[in-house]
Amino acid sequence: MKILVVGGGGREHAIIKKLRENPAVDTIYALPGNGGIAADATCVAIGAKDIPAIVDFAVSHAVDYAVVAPDDPLALGAVDALEAAGIPSFGPTAKAARIESSKVFAKNLMRCYGIPTAQYEVFGDAAAAREYVAHCRIPVVIKADGLALGKGVIIAQTREEAAAAVDSIMTDRVFGDSGSQVVIEEFLEGPEVSVLSFTDGHVVVPMISSMDHKRALDGDQGLNTGGMGTIAPNPFYTPEVAERCMQEIFLPTVAAMQDLGCPFKGCLYFGLMLTKDGPKVIEYNCRFGDPETQVVLPLLKTDLLTVMQAVTNETLAQTPVEWSSGAACCVVMASAGYPGAYEKGHAITIPADLQECVYVAGAALQDGRLLTNGGRVLGVTAVADTLPQAVQEAYARVERIHFDSAYYRHDIGRRALEV
Ligand code: AMP
Ligand code: GLY
Repeated sequence: MKILVVGGGGREHAIIKKLRENPAVDTIYALPGNGGIAADATCVAIGAKDIPAIVDFAVSHAVDYAVVAPDDPLALGAVDALEAAGIPSFGPTAKAARIESSKVFAKNLMRCYGIPTAQYEVFGDAAAAREYVAHCRIPVVIKADGLALGKGVIIAQTREEAAAAVDSIMTDRVFGDSGSQVVIEEFLEGPEVSVLSFTDGHVVVPMISSMDHKRALDGDQGLNTGGMGTIAPNPFYTPEVAERCMQEIFLPTVAAMQDLGCPFKGCLYFGLMLTKDGPKVIEYNCRFGDPETQVVLPLLKTDLLTVMQAVTNETLAQTPVEWSSGAACCVVMASAGYPGAYEKGHAITIPADLQECVYVAGAALQDGRLLTNGGRVLGVTAVADTLPQAVQEAYARVERIHFDSAYYRHDIGRRALEV
């Protein structure tokens, strides 16, 4: 079989490594992939947002199945276009991807269908939004409506910060048209849990829970990043919490999407906060999380392609999905300075015995050498029987990998180990 994977980060590398375990898969194309992914797939220089070129490539190379991983192409209708061209694909349609690409859509869905989330108001007018934050409870959370590279959320600790956030999003349009509307919502507190799930629009199969570490520096200090490391399973997510999430959040969300005429097929990601009033949705993503995927997929025992095809064919109810009982930890090795300015072009050395557990996020191949080429460079993963062992092993592996100006957090998993 020939498979095409759209995207080029650590998440896509983890998906590709897992798909390769199926002996029926003989070719995987990564569009565009990266220098590290090139060890596991044929990388093709087509950008993840170039939908017409992606479809042309899939058709001309007789691709049997496509996986669209990042949010942008999903929101732009990559799956709609691939399926219209006769290529079965994994991922939601553009209409269903609105659950991530429009926070106003997601919040209104939750309000309408009684799914627990932070209280909120929507504003399309900067003056009205400023007036609101002059009187609302503080801290308050201000979110640009559309996709903003994961940076469209501002937690304001003072009224001045809140007013400044409204101005930068709505008036200065720092996130472009994503800021034509804002959601202003209540600040919630509690442990955060990421739950990725497979859904075919009818049934929902949650994957192993995980915990992201979004801040750049140890002790949850520094700027927000795409994610500096993950562990799975998340110890705060007990069987009781899981059952409550299934009844109050997962099933109602999938049913709501059916009811709205845009059934969700693909990976639906629930970003949850376990508040003292119960679990609440912080955000939905219409795709696999990065770097959650790097700890969740190594624990999947069932063949990934089989599960993905069951999603596409709407036969997930008849497809058992099994997980290993172990734990996983992923430590992201970044370029010093990330998420701000950072250097590129440093040589990366990875011992041969670690190739399989390293997911490459930002690297380029030049004359056969792997060079740093992004903020997040590598996700170094370990799977073990217990979480303490997985954390220890992931850090032991990090110690054996080198590139100049490498930076990583030293406390991935620490909060989880204290539970
Ligand atoms: P997002 O870009 O939606 O993933 O949000 C980034 C981060 O902001 C989340 O992971 C939370 O830590 C935080 N956040 C978002 N919404 C809220 C909220 N209502 N209350 C507290 N923290 C929030
Ligand atoms: N790690 C969070 C995300 O993928 O959005």
